Amino acid sequence: MSNEIKVRSYVEQINAALKKYIDFSDDESDKVAQAMLYSLEIGGKRVRPMLVLEFCRICGGNVEAALPFACAIEMIHTYSLIHDDLPCMDDDDYRRGKPSCHKQFDYATALLAGDGLLTLAFSVMAQASLPAETVVKAIKLLSDSAGYLGMIGGQTMDLQHEGMSVGIEKLQKTDALKTGKLIYAACALGCVAAGADEEKLKAAEIYADNIGLAFQIVDDLLDITSTSEELGKPIGSDAENNKSTYPALLGLDESRKLVNELTDNAIKAVSLFGDDGNFLANYARKLSVRTK
Ligand code: IPE
Ligand code: IPE
Ligand code: MG
Ligand code: MG
Ligand code: MG
Repeated sequence: MSNEIKVRSYVEQINAALKKYIDFSDDESDKVAQAMLYSLEIGGKRVRPMLVLEFCRICGGNVEAALPFACAIEMIHTYSLIHDDLPCMDDDDYRRGKPSCHKQFDYATALLAGDGLLTLAFSVMAQASLPAETVVKAIKLLSDSAGYLGMIGGQTMDLQHEGMSVGIEKLQKTDALKTGKLIYAACALGCVAAGADEEKLKAAEIYADNIGLAFQIVDDLLDITSTSEELGKPIGSDAENNKSTYPALLGLDESRKLVNELTDNAIKAVSLFGDDGNFLANYARKLSVRTK
């Protein structure tokens, strides 16, 4: 199967699974359910759930059984985007090519839709047909990665740095937390679902740390060089908010060079899997040159 076809088939599998978790049986909570489904369904590349499924596959696990973990991480990611767009954070009106959740609905509903997706994620994980200790390990991994010492910590640093010129070390830590941690959780969840050994887990961690940082640098580059039509979210948002970013600190060329180096490191890390690592190697390259 070509990589393109494989990506498409993963995306279809993930989208179909995501849909069935939102329950509309209670009239009173329909509004928040609609907002949750709206933000989940309007698109997205599904990078994180795809990483869960592919790492599970190459570690010899049952991909179908890992689907709840894949859905859970996409729910957490989507909640983080809903909150990231709120006026008290990046204040962005477009997301995934459509009005942001707080524009389509209202501020309070967007806040609650984010909370709803965050909590639903852990309910979904608890429903996985995997051994109880695997599920508990996975829940701890995802909550730690998404929490105040992970993604939320990174988002906090990102906001604190607005208008400041921070050095490369602080910036790297911010990006590693706000974006890298969930990407790490995705790769590690796939390994955990498959019961992978330490060596595979370590390779997944190196891959994730490298593509995670590269992913945020590319996101920052696209905020400068892309168009809002292509990206599906506003461009120039980082400059408007005086964000600390790699392109702002190092310039476009140096940032691009760093993305290429990080991508090479990631590709090297999955060579451990032999031919089975080819999809992830190609995917790392593809993400590094993405246009949205
Ligand atoms: C955007 O993530 C936010 C970052 C962490 C940079 P994605 O680029 O994965 O967004 P979607 O899911 O495709 O919309
Ligand atoms: C967001 O980074 C990272 C998150 C944890 C949501 P950005 O603020 O750069 O993401 P976009 O550009 O709005 O998608
Ligand atoms: Mg942000
Ligand atoms: Mg943002
Ligand atoms: Mg951005």
